[in-house]
Amino acid sequence: MKNFGLNELREMYLSFFETKGHLRLPSFSLIPRNDPSLLLINAGMSPMKTWFTGEEEPPRRRVTTCQKCIRTPDIENIGKTARHGTYFEMLGNFSFGDYFKREAIHWAWEFLTSPDWVGIDPDRLYPSVYLDDDEAWNIWHNEIGIAPERIFRFGKEDNFWEHGSGPCGPCSEIHFDRGEKYGCGKPDCKPGCDCDRFMEFWNLVFTQFDGDGKGGYTRLANPNIDTGMGLERLACLMQGVDNLFEVDTVRNIMLAVSEKANVKYGEDEKKDISLRVITDHIRSTTFLICDGVVPSNEGRGYVLRRLLRRAARHGRLLGIKGTFLADIVPVVARENFSEYPELTEKLDYIQKVVAIEEERFAATIDSGLDILDSMIKETKTAGADTLPGEDVFKLSDTFGFPVDLTREIALEAGLGIDEAGFEALLAEQKKRARAARAAMGDLGWT
Ligand code: SER
Repeated sequence: MKNFGLNELREMYLSFFETKGHLRLPSFSLIPRNDPSLLLINAGMSPMKTWFTGEEEPPRRRVTTCQKCIRTPDIENIGKTARHGTYFEMLGNFSFGDYFKREAIHWAWEFLTSPDWVGIDPDRLYPSVYLDDDEAWNIWHNEIGIAPERIFRFGKEDNFWEHGSGPCGPCSEIHFDRGEKYGCGKPDCKPGCDCDRFMEFWNLVFTQFDGDGKGGYTRLANPNIDTGMGLERLACLMQGVDNLFEVDTVRNIMLAVSEKANVKYGEDEKKDISLRVITDHIRSTTFLICDGVVPSNEGRGYVLRRLLRRAARHGRLLGIKGTFLADIVPVVARENFSEYPELTEKLDYIQKVVAIEEERFAATIDSGLDILDSMIKETKTAGADTLPGEDVFKLSDTFGFPVDLTREIALEAGLGIDEAGFEALLAEQKKRARAARAAMGDLGWT
């Protein structure tokens, strides 16, 4: 198989779909526009919801993008497995009431298997369709020529795409066989198996409904196409590497972190986790700041703060003294220069935001970690399995430990945290702050 760099694959994808009449648009910001159902953009189609529903006119009926995405539901797992990342790019081709299943499937196949493009051996690819989607099944079988035993039918869990409210529908996914060495060895191992052998990497969604997020679906006047392929995943397959952190551009960022920490990747599993956490988080935070997010205790700002502070803690675990994250930002900018020159244009600003947040946390992280350590010991000595709410509150209030970070560190020590106790103290504090603000208002200090 040909080996392509991540930046090269992005360019190939976008130009391929230009040859199919698509308008190439730059990635939208990570901050959603007029979409209260989303904190951050998490898929290529998310910024285009109104084009799908028909509320707004798209600039063209065929559009292609490579979209910056952030997914945060499983931050605690980032680093532990080599497959997860909070930041990734999603390649997509979209049809707004123009082409439908036939073209979407034919073009996906052409891009992947034609020697003029990616040139993957078709024997390594397996499509899946939604349970009763005979139309898609027939296209894969009769038109593309895939043998029936290589086409899988999966249920709603796998082959029906929806995210919050908005456009959604059944989908057809493409899986890549990475070979037996990645498999679980079970006789029934096949696409859909939980092991690492068959990697799903392109999702062709046949968007025909508008979902209300509660299980209600209205048929859209014009069916649409929304495809999404993880750029890092594609690069991982093409480069024949094990995971996203070994993909060329990401590996270069991880290398800079390793140099900073003076450790080598692949020698110590615990250190590898920290290297991956920092690498992933510095990518997501660099892009978040570039798009205008600043650290705070709420919403997107909290996601950013949490990521930066989690990365800072893992720096400590690697033995890095002092602040270091801002020094990695230029590497992120350099590796992404061809598509995102704005990272370089705003480099000073991004580094400043990172450095300020890091310094703020650095002032208290060491004492906070020591205190947390004694709190954990005391809790265990007392025979309890939950860190008291007051402790969690103190760590957040005095030492700037985001509650999620405390929860994660407690969990590493086998403890839970008193969530309700913490929430109650936080609510009380907010009430006090509101009262204080109101009193200032009375004095005319608004
Ligand atoms: N919206 C689908 C996904 O995120 C395809 O783009 O997988």
